[in-house]
Amino acid sequence: MLNPYSIRQDFPILDIVINGKKLIYFDNAATSQKPRQVIEAIRRFYTESNANIHRGFHHLSQEASRLYEEAHDTVAEFIGARGREEIVFVRNTTEALNLVAYAWGLKNLGEGDKVVITIMEHHSNFLPWFKIARHTGASVRVVDVNDEGRLRVDLLEEAINEKTKLVAIAHMSNVTGVINDVKAIAKIAHSMGARIVVDGAQSVPHIPVNVRDLGVDFLAFSGHKMLGPTGIGVLYVSEEVLEDMDTFLVGGDTIKEVHYRGRLEVIWHDMPWRYEAGTPNIVGGIGLAEAVKYLSRIGMENIHRHEQELVKYFFKRVEEEGFADKLKILGPRSPEARGGIVSFTLGELDPHATAIMLDEEAIAVRSGFHCAQPLHERLGFSRGSVRASFYLYNTKEEIDRFVEVLKSIVKQAP
Ligand SMILES: Cc1ncc(COP(=O)(O)O)c(C=O)c1O
Repeated sequence: MLNPYSIRQDFPILDIVINGKKLIYFDNAATSQKPRQVIEAIRRFYTESNANIHRGFHHLSQEASRLYEEAHDTVAEFIGARGREEIVFVRNTTEALNLVAYAWGLKNLGEGDKVVITIMEHHSNFLPWFKIARHTGASVRVVDVNDEGRLRVDLLEEAINEKTKLVAIAHMSNVTGVINDVKAIAKIAHSMGARIVVDGAQSVPHIPVNVRDLGVDFLAFSGHKMLGPTGIGVLYVSEEVLEDMDTFLVGGDTIKEVHYRGRLEVIWHDMPWRYEAGTPNIVGGIGLAEAVKYLSRIGMENIHRHEQELVKYFFKRVEEEGFADKLKILGPRSPEARGGIVSFTLGELDPHATAIMLDEEAIAVRSGFHCAQPLHERLGFSRGSVRASFYLYNTKEEIDRFVEVLKSIVKQAP
């Protein structure tokens, strides 16, 4: 098992004091905190290696290019990809999913085709499909969940047929923490000749993910939710779908040769550079690689188990303190079915009011719809919810304090 107390030593921000109280950071699904090692890698790059990549023969440019390229290798290994040629660096999950919509969707979708998504998606895996369907004449089928927020796999199987060209699905819900059986869903999709794109924004930072074991075609995730910097994300593109894709953003760095002799002739660059147009977030990529090394040292299985322990402990403490009936939870109670995320409402209190009261005690949570309004409405939480999301540095003592504060809010609440 991991030791959150020694891990905390690496996260200077966790020592800050707000309103005279030590910060308790439970907003990890929105973004994670960053360890010294990542901060130091960023500082080191700017003080020792900064230059633009792929454009110079001088020493610094070569060094920056090497570090940036190796960052792709590190990420490839982390998710079990074949190599850097399957790893495209983008800004975030949202951009990665939009890249699939435009580079793959515009080329492969047409009148009568179907994209299958689910009601549990984040808006970033919801809106691009409706938009691309409008451009191409395809339609979008939204598969339901049950009242516990678990995917209706029976409906999903029914929905995927020979007209389905793409299945777009979250690996882990950012609201309920429900983990979908992506491996089984990929098999169903492929058996009908469809492709599958997985939103891994909440899974890659928190559970072991191996793209070849899962058998997915695309996987999108964000560096900032997994100890890395903001402004860097990843789209895994299986080499098997590469031929089906067109270029999207084009310009500098996306080509090997451009000629204009009365007409345009272009030889596109190799993967992944073909999809990384313009000067990329070089330091972001290097910071992300450092974050991945940090997570690998701790072990993703350990991180997942630690978070499940925290969720289990939270539910237990709420029961012990006798206000479980006031806590209306989205998603299953069983920690086995979910990651380290608990979204809820407290009595009749508005979620934002609850979050403000928690903030007075220096407890950082998120309130609102968490970019998943259709799921909230489906589960009957039309005012949104409060979301506490845990990570490797959170402790049982923090949960104790959280439960204590929630109990005192319940006492004052209607
Ligand atoms: C499941 C899920 N998908 C997509 C996103 C979008 O991530 P980003 O804002 O980094 O693009 C998030 C982040 O909140 C998420 O939790």
